[in-house]
Amino acid sequence: MAVLLFLFLQAHAIYAAGPGDIRLDDKIESLKKAGVGPVIYPHAAHEKLYKCADCHPKIFKDKHGANDISMKRNMDGQFCGSPNCHNSPKAFPLYNCARCHTNVRAAR
Ligand code: HEC
Ligand code: HEC
Repeated sequence: MAVLLFLFLQAHAIYAAGPGDIRLDDKIESLKKAGVGPVIYPHAAHEKLYKCADCHPKIFKDKHGANDISMKRNMDGQFCGSPNCHNSPKAFPLYNCARCHTNVRAAR
């Protein structure tokens, strides 16, 4: 019985956990032009701050590649720039390019 319970809890833990880091680079050409690299999205860190349903499906579809994220949309208050997120005092702001993008050229 204890073993079954243990297995159940293990399975549940795996099921409930979200994905690990997610590389967001659908807009690779545009990223290159602007001189910034892909975003390595720290999913686990966000799970500690919010519930799955705070983001899925309203802000982000929970399927890689299904979200048409751009900086214009972020700045318009969608995706990363949604209320209470990186457009608010609750999180670092959108002009901190290097906190989200890898390989940001110097002086950004
Ligand atoms: C809170 C995180 C975050 C910050 C801060 C941020 N970005 Fe982004 N940005 C993203 C994400 C996520 C994408 C989508 C990447 C993709 O799917 O290719 C993106 C996409 C982009 C793109 C490609 C799409 C487009 O809109 O042309 C460019 C260029 C870009 N960012 C530039 C910047 C610059 C410059 C800054 C600083 C002024 C910045 N970003 C700050 C998260 C961020
Ligand atoms: C702060 C917002 C946020 C929270 C909270 C969050 N997610 Fe996500 N999730 C994202 C983003 C952003 C993506 C990337 C979507 C993309 O690739 O276009 C994502 C992607 C996913 C994916 C798709 C992975 C893939 O490779 O297709 C799954 C599944 C997922 N999340 C499940 C969860 C679960 C389960 C929880 C709660 C334990 C959760 N998420 C909590 C923002 C969040």
